[in-house]
Amino acid sequence: MKSLLLVLSLLLLISCGQQHDVASGLQAKADSLQQKTVHSYKPGLGEFMLGIQVHHAKLWYAGQAQNWKLAQFEIEEIKEALNDIREFNAERPEVKSISMLEPFIGSVEASIKEESTTKFITQFGLLTNTCNNCHITTHHEFNVIKIPTMPSFPNQDFSVHR
Ligand code: HEC
Repeated sequence: MKSLLLVLSLLLLISCGQQHDVASGLQAKADSLQQKTVHSYKPGLGEFMLGIQVHHAKLWYAGQAQNWKLAQFEIEEIKEALNDIREFNAERPEVKSISMLEPFIGSVEASIKEESTTKFITQFGLLTNTCNNCHITTHHEFNVIKIPTMPSFPNQDFSVHR
């Protein structure tokens, strides 16, 4: 009986020890993950804007080529970037001005759905004005956006293929 008790208490001790090992292992993992999060790369507002600039230009060329699927894709990319700004740059006061762009994005989307080049050109112009209005509001009036005048992506074909 005594030896059984001894064995049982030994087992208990071992399992407690193991639990302790597991717990401290988990703690170490959590600590290192936290370290990684602190040091992980977070794109800034300017970087998101560079992406938006590219999609803005590609949106124009897609519209000019009446490649409406590509145009819709590019406008989705702009919407995604705006959502990312809200998520990753929440501390920036400029974030509250993003909503001024939304009605114009909606109108560009409507012109894409209608496959209307005339409407697309008008709405693209209004969208571009709003980029600049936000730059003025956020004291970045020196960043002036315009309708692209020269195709800048020699490695991409904007025309419809199928
Ligand atoms: C919320 C207001 C806002 C809207 C809307 C906005 N921008 Fe910006 N944009 C900014 C701010 C603020 C900066 C400066 C970011 C920084 O601190 O680096 C900027 C910077 C830029 C830059 C400079 C990036 C660089 O490094 O050269 C470009 C290009 C740009 N925006 C393009 C656009 C385009 C295109 C649109 C419209 C589709 C647009 N922006 C809409 C606020 C806005």
